[in-house]
Amino acid sequence: MCGIVGYVGRQAAAPILVEGLRALEYRGYDSAGIALHDGAEGFRVFRASGKLIQLQTRVDWGDPSSCGIGHTRWATHGRPSEENAHPHRSSDGKVVAVHNGIFENYLELRAELASEGISFQTETDTECFPLLVGLLMSKGAGFLEAFSGAVGRLRGIWALACLRADEPDRILVARSGPPLAVGLGEGEQFLASDVVPLLRHTRRVVYLEDGDLGELTREGLRLFRLDGPAPERRVHQVPFDPVAAEKGRYKHFMQKEIFEQGSALSNTLLNRLPVEPGEAIPLDLPYGPEDWRGIERIHIVACGTSWHAGLVGKFFIEQLARVPVEVDYASEYRYRQPVVQPGTLALGITQSGETADTLAALREAAALGARTLAICNVQGSSATRSAQATLLTHAGPEIGVASTKAFTTQLAVLLLLALRLGEERGSVLPEIRATLLEGLRQLPAQLERAAALEGRILQWAHRWKEARDFLYLGRGPMYPIALEGALKLKEISYIHAEGYPAGEMKHGPIALIDRHLPIVALLPADAHREKAISNLQEAAARDGRILALVQEGEEGLNGIAEDALPMPRIHPWLAPILYTIPLQLLAYHIAVLRGCDVDQPRNLAKSVTVE
Ligand code: AGP
Repeated sequence: MCGIVGYVGRQAAAPILVEGLRALEYRGYDSAGIALHDGAEGFRVFRASGKLIQLQTRVDWGDPSSCGIGHTRWATHGRPSEENAHPHRSSDGKVVAVHNGIFENYLELRAELASEGISFQTETDTECFPLLVGLLMSKGAGFLEAFSGAVGRLRGIWALACLRADEPDRILVARSGPPLAVGLGEGEQFLASDVVPLLRHTRRVVYLEDGDLGELTREGLRLFRLDGPAPERRVHQVPFDPVAAEKGRYKHFMQKEIFEQGSALSNTLLNRLPVEPGEAIPLDLPYGPEDWRGIERIHIVACGTSWHAGLVGKFFIEQLARVPVEVDYASEYRYRQPVVQPGTLALGITQSGETADTLAALREAAALGARTLAICNVQGSSATRSAQATLLTHAGPEIGVASTKAFTTQLAVLLLLALRLGEERGSVLPEIRATLLEGLRQLPAQLERAAALEGRILQWAHRWKEARDFLYLGRGPMYPIALEGALKLKEISYIHAEGYPAGEMKHGPIALIDRHLPIVALLPADAHREKAISNLQEAAARDGRILALVQEGEEGLNGIAEDALPMPRIHPWLAPILYTIPLQLLAYHIAVLRGCDVDQPRNLAKSVTVE
């Protein structure tokens, strides 16, 4: 997903822009560029394909400019190349712009521009925008009028930043879809696609809303709309600690985030576990008893790892609250004409809060009459501002593209939501409730113990790093964890992997089994264990290579497993959270051994803000 930065103030802009783009690297990109205003009649533009280091070697670090914009591009229209890298220019070169999103009507715009005799330098949709601004100015419009007029012609989604050669120290911005945040300084303003690049400069942040346009000058930020002034936007005092967003003693952000899951879980559970006997779970939701009892069914919409969390959430909610739950890929939900009856709660699960499909699915559900709730890790993100209510996972900034601590904290929040809903409906047995709440209190320490199995996992990684395929098997709430383990492996090591319900193996996947196929089996001491073991005996009989995660003391498995990792004893319904840790470590170490770019896997973005 593309990243945008901007700066206007009294400092040299180049280092601020490039460091800002570095802080956005985790979003995924394949080229980058910056434009520096020369304070008089023009710009100095630097662009490069590949990693930021290529751009850095071209930028004049002594450049005196104090105003500029920058961009990391994740190619959608047009190959990853220097020519297609942003910023793009108007025909007269007096307007430059950067863009995150997609102009769905770019062919129409290109035809119109071509009919005006304008030629194109790139294959991108983005180039239409500065060309259109320049065309409108050539017909007499001022910069602001031309910028607004061009925005009014767009269809699709966009976050835009734009400079004009003869108007130094002025950045025009617009947002409809992908996020834009402005960091407010003293005599200087900072622009970025999310808060991380802003935090080294300021904690005072304004998030643009969809439909906002804005003007950044040294004096401050002025927001407006196409049809008039913008409503007052809140200035957030962002709590993130920029140091927390750094790698510390770890080699990769993903490794750091795997090992900080204990603290992430503790932070997520803070003030959410009842203290007094009989006290309701103090979930921070604006729901009264009638709100809780009004929830007749739940539609969960999410993507990727968050969708896996939704599958576990379905298990929790149906077991504890006896409320029917449907779980959809958000990209499917929004186009399947879902049946939304009265009493439906649409629950969007999203780490970033910016996933286009999840946001659109929530909007679709709301339009059909559902109440909306988000489970999200980024305060102030689009999901937290479009859903009627939000349950935050306080996992801290998750920089690695592969989601880890966000996932396990999502599961914890889903369990609390299920328990709270069950409390209101009188459907959860007190002893089960007490056991699960105590299990949650113990869980952070147990996550640390699971992570301490890293040495054993590293042996698995060395043994299987060249495997062509992996199969992950689980039953009940462990089936979504099998899916999650498979996704972790394939997205960072590029090895094909599939997750399957263990009982489904004989309906096809068993044909894959031979002595070259590692099978990761999730076998907590739950009601499914015996059946899962008999499924594995069928695999072992065909020379499948079984790597099992079992409750400590249960390593036997009748000799069918090549290796069995003893996991801490835990309630079966908390096992999905605990058993995820070794799977994250397995994917991480295999990827490292294969020399993959663990934090920024090829073709991937941290948050997919396009369809
Ligand atoms: C997970 O490791 C992937 N990075 C991806 O599947 C991710 O979970 C998905 O894109 C959803 O992102 P979100 O949680 O920010 O909405």
